[in-house]
Amino acid sequence: MSQYIADPKRYESVRYRRCGRSGLRLPPVSLGLWHNFGGVHSFENSRAMLRRAFDLGVTHIDLANNYGPPAGSAEETFGRVLKLDLAPYRDELIISTKAGYDMWPGPYGEWGSRKYLLASLDQSLKRMGLEYVDIFYSHRPDPGTPIEETMSALDSAVRSGKALYVGISNYNVDQTRAAIEALDAPCLIHQMRYSMFKREPEEGLLQLLEDAGVGGIAFSPLAQGLLTDRYLAGIPADSRVMTDGRFLKAGDVDEGRLAKVRALGQIAAARGQTLAQMAIAWLLRQPAMTSTIIGASKVEQLEQNVTAAANLSFAPEELARIEEIL
Ligand SMILES: NC(=O)c1ccc[n+]([C@@H]2O[C@H](COP(=O)([O-])OP(=O)(O)OC[C@H]3O[C@@H](n4cnc5c(N)ncnc54)[C@H](OP(=O)(O)O)[C@@H]3O)[C@@H](O)[C@H]2O)c1
Repeated sequence: MSQYIADPKRYESVRYRRCGRSGLRLPPVSLGLWHNFGGVHSFENSRAMLRRAFDLGVTHIDLANNYGPPAGSAEETFGRVLKLDLAPYRDELIISTKAGYDMWPGPYGEWGSRKYLLASLDQSLKRMGLEYVDIFYSHRPDPGTPIEETMSALDSAVRSGKALYVGISNYNVDQTRAAIEALDAPCLIHQMRYSMFKREPEEGLLQLLEDAGVGGIAFSPLAQGLLTDRYLAGIPADSRVMTDGRFLKAGDVDEGRLAKVRALGQIAAARGQTLAQMAIAWLLRQPAMTSTIIGASKVEQLEQNVTAAANLSFAPEELARIEEIL
């Protein structure tokens, strides 16, 4: 690929959103590297998506220690693209990573101990070739470690200069409340599974985040591709179900879901959006939500999803009809 020079117009069409009560603003659509950026994937495709994302004003890239496969390789891919293309723009980027899931053998390679979190952050920085990440997350709550220990490890990451902000992911309402209380640094952000098909955050979490001034960021906003036209005509050979199948299975593509997807697609079309765009906009209408983290296997998906923010308002009748379908 040729020498990369970022599009000078990249900031013209994006309206960045304040993350909770912090001073940090994030794009409405962020890019996650969970799938399609591992060592087993085409490096040039991963690189093309990252370059295009930045050209479209997507300043926030979401990673975790274990993204790949193999685990760690998505951070290595990102590190290569940073070195080749994005390094001159480091100060325009918000890079997040996480530790919490299984990463290396033995008792210190997962969960939420101080030992694991801080060792993992050092490994992540090395893989990405970074001196610091912008956001470091506890990827999941650990029932076997006092919350004070996990949170003090996040605080240490900030104090040592290896992370600018900290966040939590997959914490329920009570765990979130306890985490916010235990942290010295403000909790910047809460990363949760939230989509039209997965609505648990509406049961108290969104309200808590709003009250506490913590930004919400939704992962798998398209339910891993179900909330798009991807599966309407069968299961394509290049889709996540066929190419990976660990987290999204053929059994998830059932007739009940597809009927909802078709009905939602009609509402989206009447709004001048694709279903993917409407599904993202529907999340961003919640005051607690700062951003969404999409995944993509192709540049065109990314391009389509990023423009979701062009129409974020919903008429009461639209919301009622969506509710009926869901
Ligand atoms: N904190 C956590 O525990 C956690 C857990 C999961 C994810 N995450 C974060 O959230 C990010 C996004 O997760 P996700 O990849 O599941 O998100 P998603 O946006 O719900 O699903 C992305 C997948 O949907 C398909 N797709 C996307 N846009 C499309 C479009 N316009 N038309 C048709 N198909 C489209 C693609 O699948 P195909 O491969 O079929 O093309 C794409 O890979 C991850 O990368 C990660 O950063 C965090």
